[in-house]
Parts: sequence; C-alpha cells; structure tokens
Amino acid sequence: MKPLAIAENIYDVGIIDWTTRDFHGYVTPRGVTYNSYLIVDDKICLIDSVKAPFTDEYIQNISEVVNPADIDYVIVNHVEPDHSGALPKLAEVAPNAVFFITQQGKNEAIQHYGDIFNFVTVKEGDVLSLGKRELQFLPLPMLHWPDSMATYLKEDQILFSNDAFGQHYCTSKRFDDGVDEDVLFFEAQKYFANILFPYAKLVEKALQKVDGLPLKMIAPSHGAIWRSHIDKIIAKYSGWGAGEKNDTLLIVYETMWGGTEKVARAMMSGAAKAGIPVKVFRLNSSDNSQIVAELLEAGGVLFGSPTLNYGMMPAMGGLLTYLKGLKPGKKLAAAFGTYGWSGGAQKDMEEFITKAGFEVQPGFNCKWKPQSGETGDAEKFGYEFAMKIKENK
Ligand code: FEO
Repeated sequence: MKPLAIAENIYDVGIIDWTTRDFHGYVTPRGVTYNSYLIVDDKICLIDSVKAPFTDEYIQNISEVVNPADIDYVIVNHVEPDHSGALPKLAEVAPNAVFFITQQGKNEAIQHYGDIFNFVTVKEGDVLSLGKRELQFLPLPMLHWPDSMATYLKEDQILFSNDAFGQHYCTSKRFDDGVDEDVLFFEAQKYFANILFPYAKLVEKALQKVDGLPLKMIAPSHGAIWRSHIDKIIAKYSGWGAGEKNDTLLIVYETMWGGTEKVARAMMSGAAKAGIPVKVFRLNSSDNSQIVAELLEAGGVLFGSPTLNYGMMPAMGGLLTYLKGLKPGKKLAAAFGTYGWSGGAQKDMEEFITKAGFEVQPGFNCKWKPQSGETGDAEKFGYEFAMKIKENK
C-alpha cells in the first residue's frame, strides 16, 4: 500500500501483509501489518521498520516520500525481527542515520545483526529534537521484550506504541474508525492474550507512563491506528492488565470416540442452566490463539480429554503447554475426560493447569462414555462449576 499521511508530514510507510496466517504459532486469519512511521521535519526520522522479506517494498514506500539516503534518525522501539528485519538494509541506504534504541535493544540488535549500526542509547525521559517537533522516549520493558519502548511525539500528541495496543488485522482503512469496532476490539483482545498475557502485571506500569499524556493518536506497529477509541482501548488494557474477568465459562476438549464430547455437552447444558454464557471449543476444529483470546476475559475453563497412551491427547498437550507459558492468571479451572482401562489424562491436565496458575477445582472422569446416570452427573458438575464462577466473579 502507498504511504499514507496520518498527520501533517507524518506518514505510515509500513507493510500490509494480507497473506500471513501464522505468526510464530499465533493464527492470524486477518493477516499482519508491520507499521513504520516517517516524520519529515528539519530532521527526517523513521520509527520502527518491517520484517526482512518486505524490505524492498518498504524502501520503495519510503522513497515515495523522501530520499532514503536523507534519513537522519531511526527509532528502534523493539528488536523483534518483525520490526527490525529491514534495519540492516536501512543502515546501507541511509549511511548517515543515527539509530536510537534502549541499551537492552542495542545488545539484542548486535546479537541479531552484528555491530553495524550507529547507535545512540536512550532511557526513560530522554528527548530528541527533530527541529519543530520533539520525541520523548518511554521504555516499556517486557511489552513485549526487555528492550521494548514507546516513543511520544509531543507536538502532534501521537504515541508510537510498537507492540502495545497492536492487533493482527489487515485493513485498507488504516484508522480504528474505518473498521468494524467489534472485530477491531476482538483482534486487540486476541493480540493482548497471545502476546502480552505473561506480562499483564506490567501493563499497569506502562499505563501510568501514558497517563496524563495528551493523545490524539496511538500508532502501534501492528494493525489499525487508534484515534477515535483511545479511551476505550486504554480502559480495556487496564482491565486486561488487572485480570478483570466476566462470568463466561469455556469448555475446551478433544475426543476420540465421542465419550469426552458427550461429557462436554452435558456440562454445557448444566452450566447454561446456571445462566452464564458458555462457549465450547473442540481443539481439532479450533485454533489455540482464538481460545486464548476468549480466555482473557473468561471466568473459568473446563479442559477435557480422553486418556490416550496413559496421558492426555496431543492437541490438549499443545494448548496446555502454551497456557503454561502464557500464565493466564487466577481463573477457575478443572479437568474432565473419559478412560478405558487406565486413566492418566486428568492427572496430566491437572499438572499443567496448576503450573499455568489456574485455581484448580476437583475434576470429573468416567469410563468409556457416560452412561445415563453419569450424563446427569456431568450436567450437575457443569451447573455447580458455573455457580462457582458466578460467585467468584
Ligand atoms: Fe511485533 Fe514483539 O514484535
């Protein structure tokens, strides 16, 4: 897409990658964007770059606004290769450019690309004059890597937030008010859950830095630019960071010959009778990224698997390994399933959900598939679990 002026003499020169469906395991049905911003002032300044395969298109985008050789400054808010892959080429085409980065970022960049950049390290509160405008640096460690920072453009009141406030959402309408609001906020939620969940507690600290800054725009490095829903997305980040939850129950299961699925459905009927929203996902027909997005605001989750080879099914193992790293916080959880001659799945699941930090409740198990009395028991289990979520909200 051609460069877009987002304010006077400020352009989005990034890339819209409509085709990527897998971002290091995060399923991205709406593609991925790598936003990069060019500020043309007395000094020409570029904020962030793009993934390496798009370097030529990116340099072409910049060339439509300025001669890349004239770039004075490059702000490296984050070294993950989706934002830094084009930096080595930039160092070539803009030989006089100075690269501004945190100390941690400098260490990471040298590891990734060698000591090829003319770096100046920056820290909290440092400012950089571009002539008529001034940039202020706001390190946001662990949102998403130790090096991460945001950069605030005072005169235009734009926060270039890098990963924070991003979404994996391609759209030719580059602003939040040009797209479906529900889809946009779901993609922001999915992004937070899959990228920032483990660092949720640091979000509050980050928001304190942003608090009080006049903001006309939040320009992240992924997805749409916020200008009409700034208060709402900040409130969402505040709630997600604080671990706020609703009373939704997720039932996530895999099944072999239908027994565990029968238990899952009975539990859903029971939970629905308690009057809470219930969402059911079979693992082999859902993607983990979406389940994690739903989990961000959910009050609790039931994980179901039959026993296979004395343990849980591989699809459940994949999800729970992912959740063990994401640490989704204090939510109610329990394991359920079926077995033939020997159990094992429930023990496996309970071990993982304990390590993931859930508040683990007693589970439910039955042999082969639920008989009529056991179906009733599973319904009752679902009802009682749902009531605990209501009480725990
Ligand atoms: Fe979009 Fe952590 O990189």
